[in-house]
Amino acid sequence: MLRFSTAGESHGESLVALVSGLPAGVPVDQEFISRELWRRQRGYGRGGRMRIERDTAHILSGVRHGKTIGSPIAMTIANNDWKNWTEILPVEEGDAAKHKAVASPRPGHADLAGALKYNFSDARYVLERASARESTARVAAGSLAKLLLREVGVEVLSHVIRVGKAELSRPAKWEEIVALSEKDEVLLNCVDAEDEARMKAEVDGVLRTGDTVGGVFEVVVHGLPPGVGTHINWDERLDGLLAQAVMSLQAVKAVEIGRGVTAAESLGSTVHDAIGYEGAEEDFTKFSREHNNAGGIEGGISNGKDVVVRGYLKPISTLRRPLGSVSFETREPVKAAYERSDVCVVPAAGVASEAMVALAVARLVLEKFGGDSLGELKRNYIGYLEQIKQF
Ligand SMILES: Cc1cc2nc3c(=O)[nH]c(=O)nc-3n(C[C@H](O)[C@H](O)[C@H](O)COP(=O)(O)O)c2cc1C
Repeated sequence: MLRFSTAGESHGESLVALVSGLPAGVPVDQEFISRELWRRQRGYGRGGRMRIERDTAHILSGVRHGKTIGSPIAMTIANNDWKNWTEILPVEEGDAAKHKAVASPRPGHADLAGALKYNFSDARYVLERASARESTARVAAGSLAKLLLREVGVEVLSHVIRVGKAELSRPAKWEEIVALSEKDEVLLNCVDAEDEARMKAEVDGVLRTGDTVGGVFEVVVHGLPPGVGTHINWDERLDGLLAQAVMSLQAVKAVEIGRGVTAAESLGSTVHDAIGYEGAEEDFTKFSREHNNAGGIEGGISNGKDVVVRGYLKPISTLRRPLGSVSFETREPVKAAYERSDVCVVPAAGVASEAMVALAVARLVLEKFGGDSLGELKRNYIGYLEQIKQF
């Protein structure tokens, strides 16, 4: 099974990603991994930290001569900011006075629940791991999943459809989302320039007032054939795995597949995607669908249309004008601690979620088509495409 885990703290020496279960022979393009990491770092509304870091993944194992060899792949991503934090983090040695305790937990963060759970007298160690800096390691892992998926013609990308009250006013075309991913400069990763300007104004507004803003990103899986995931067992459904994958990202508070949210208030006749038979091949088979309200998944199985997953982000919890909290030491009311912070992370969260979606889809692709080498996987894949084309 394709598995991955991450280690590392926000201001620790390094982040670590460990990926196992990839077949042998997958080309590993280091430049692609670096670009994915860089895509996560950019976006209008990020804080000062992203100007310090230039993330690159150092591969320690599992890859030889530019290809996977079937064994686990370990990667490290150094934290440049680490050297600035050696005495700020709780220290045994050095100047204890320089230790900057998180003395009043921040509402909306893991600070209070984590300090209670792990019996810490301040929340520093909690936020060090709870921080979304961890999602950098997910993006490194996810880029390997994307490289595998690319071999079978599947691409995973994201774009932003809402920041605060400003939303994308029209549907996005796949080609537009691809074009966004190829840009070197992005503001809010929105396919429409006018809508993006309104989104930027939302960010500018909260920058002025010391507040923060959330939004919605959409991840699209393009080129996935019908038949990935299954209705047979609850924990093998594609929709269930995607929901967990995206919901597990820091600050994501709701996940929607296709027209999931508005479907709940609509009539069935307006929601379900009527089936036709074209006789000509469209999206892998001769069957056609009028719309894609289902977001490419029916019964937990991909149906050949683009898989569309949306993540709803709450506004960032760290506020320049902090909310009320309580001092860990005195139990007196105080303002919550302020740490250098982003004010809007919707584009970055979209990129991190692409990684999570790619890992979930790659897992199910490998479960369906199997194979210990890329050649074996591709043979099974091509044979299956032939089978459904004849259906
Ligand atoms: C890419 C990304 C960057 C983030 N940056 C910040 C940040 O700078 N400041 C902050 O307070 N929260 C930030 N967050 C959100 C927090 O990590 C998250 O809200 C917190 O760990 C609590 O977890 P929860 O919101 O999932 O409950 C970020 C989230 C993402 C996805």
